[in-house]
Amino acid sequence: ATSGEAKPAGFLEKYPALITGFFFFMWYFLNVIFNILNKKIYNYFPYPYFVSVIHLLVGVVYCLVSWTVGLPKRAPINSTLLKLLFPVALCHALGHVTSNVSFAAVAVSFAHTIKALEPFFNAAATQFVLGQQVPLPLWLSLAPVVLGVSMASLTELSFNWTGFINAMISNISFTYRSIYSKKAMTDMDSTNVYAYISIIALIVCIPPAVIIEGPTLLQHGFNDAIAKVGLTKFVSDLFFVGLFYHLYNQVATNTLERVAPLTHAVGNVLKRVFVIGFSIIVFGNKITTQTGIGTCIAIAGVAIYSYIKAKIEEEKRAKSA
Ligand code: 3PG
Repeated sequence: ATSGEAKPAGFLEKYPALITGFFFFMWYFLNVIFNILNKKIYNYFPYPYFVSVIHLLVGVVYCLVSWTVGLPKRAPINSTLLKLLFPVALCHALGHVTSNVSFAAVAVSFAHTIKALEPFFNAAATQFVLGQQVPLPLWLSLAPVVLGVSMASLTELSFNWTGFINAMISNISFTYRSIYSKKAMTDMDSTNVYAYISIIALIVCIPPAVIIEGPTLLQHGFNDAIAKVGLTKFVSDLFFVGLFYHLYNQVATNTLERVAPLTHAVGNVLKRVFVIGFSIIVFGNKITTQTGIGTCIAIAGVAIYSYIKAKIEEEKRAKSA
């Protein structure tokens, strides 16, 4: 080609959906690996507060190294931005720790089934916290989700209240996280926003880990883990689980930048389907027929909910056009 001629669009620029598809694939892939490795660690080292700190710590080190080499360039921060990001990070930290307490306490498949209730908490917050009317069909479509999760919980073999309640608190925390994220919309790119959120969340997570698990960890927690799997495996497991945690969240945030929030929310539920499936296969968890049916009903309910919500938003857009 002679100079001055317009460069033909590359294959990937011509097909942006392919890139978005790749983002979803990476998000799911990293998340499934994260969940499996994470649970393997809890099986020999049941200290979710400490492991949550490690997840964030590896992520923060990753961000600091990325900033040092300028990939991406660090976006400047000031006190106004910090004030906006702080509540997001606080909810991120709380949702993160409670999710992990649940992952450690019950089967991963069950924790994610409860976490599939997140759209229900979103709808409740929209109606009762933000005071925006949620249409009746949308509420009704959430009935199968609640029914399915209840059915699954009643016969879940790994059920315990710690796992159940913490997964519920994580639903509330992540709902508030999305409310505050909307308020904290800034010009900063998603990678930088997630880096700052990780740093604040790490600082928030350290004190409870030290207070709740510190003494036991020093007494025998670390030694027990090292006696079971050896120091090298213990350290490398913690490093990799942190890396996968950071990367899946990073890719999830980048995906949100490319698609509508609803598509992202639906994508997040579909992600749980993969995690539930793979974790049952990998850990060979027994599930009762009722739990299996309940999980399917809950997931189908989320699909119906998302479909109705998308329709309602489409109508709103058509009316305002
Ligand atoms: C976490 O460790 O914070 C959990 O993996 C969060 O789970 P989710 O991103 O699937 O809601």
